[in-house]
Amino acid sequence: MKVTLAQPRGFCAGVVRAIDIVEHALEIYGAPIYVLHEIVHNQHVVEDLQRRGVIFTEDLASIPAGSVTIFSAHGVSTAVVETAKKNDLQVIDATCPLVTKVHLQAKKYYRQGDELIIIGHAGHPEVEGTRGRVKGTVYVLDSVAEVENLAVKDPEHIAYVTQTTLSIDDTRDVVDALKKRFPKIHGPGLDDICYATQNRQNAVREMSKKVDILLVVGARNSSNSNRLREVGEQNGITAHLIQDAKDLDSSWFTSQSRVGITAGASTPEILVQGVLNELRSYGVEEVMDLDGVQESISFRLPTMLPRAKLRQK
Ligand code: F3S
Repeated sequence: MKVTLAQPRGFCAGVVRAIDIVEHALEIYGAPIYVLHEIVHNQHVVEDLQRRGVIFTEDLASIPAGSVTIFSAHGVSTAVVETAKKNDLQVIDATCPLVTKVHLQAKKYYRQGDELIIIGHAGHPEVEGTRGRVKGTVYVLDSVAEVENLAVKDPEHIAYVTQTTLSIDDTRDVVDALKKRFPKIHGPGLDDICYATQNRQNAVREMSKKVDILLVVGARNSSNSNRLREVGEQNGITAHLIQDAKDLDSSWFTSQSRVGITAGASTPEILVQGVLNELRSYGVEEVMDLDGVQESISFRLPTMLPRAKLRQK
């Protein structure tokens, strides 16, 4: 069996920043720290932080007044921000700056008088956060068929933004369908699909030429991990989304298999190495790294954290 490791894979800058924020907050303020929603969509990350005194909740009302409360990387609606303020919570915002950029775009379109379309998956926390940033009409869709059936109030004043973790190919089709139906529509093109999503999908596309089976290490509720599996399938290879080595099934492989491994943007590298070690026990002859983009992007922590740290010293 031959194994190829995708480059890049795993943690993106927004995930690194979000986890850093929680770890700094634990260090500065001590446990318990509350986090609204999973800080990033990965059970291993969440369980590790839980062991260290982080309480994850979906319910803002369950957080005691005055508590340090972190908003997850996916972002939140204006209503959540206002309720947190009313409940006197000490908020630290771990929203990825690239999601914040989409919020700002959505608000700009609303101020201009446009109805807003979000290309994304209804119910995903990022989409709900963006939807809740504008007061006007918002439509959420993720397929060309939905574009065909969409009834807007004023086709002359309409704009779109996209979820950051979509499939580039599928989104291109949806944007093209929107432009065909509503020639006056404006939006950011595919620019809102973040660099990390694009780089990981491009790496899978490249790797698909060299492997027969793709393993995507990532959580089942991780949007970008699911998209990586779909990109593998769209490029003609068998693809499995696995949470960790425990999900591997030896019947998927033969001694001749050429296996590619990638990981979603919220997946720690230790899980990839765990999968690789398990594959070695099936008999791996060769492990290769795919040539790919070396990412150097990093995002600054919110200013209140380093300052708080200084105050403590
Ligand atoms: Fe941000 Fe993109 Fe990661 S939007 S959280 S850098 S996948």
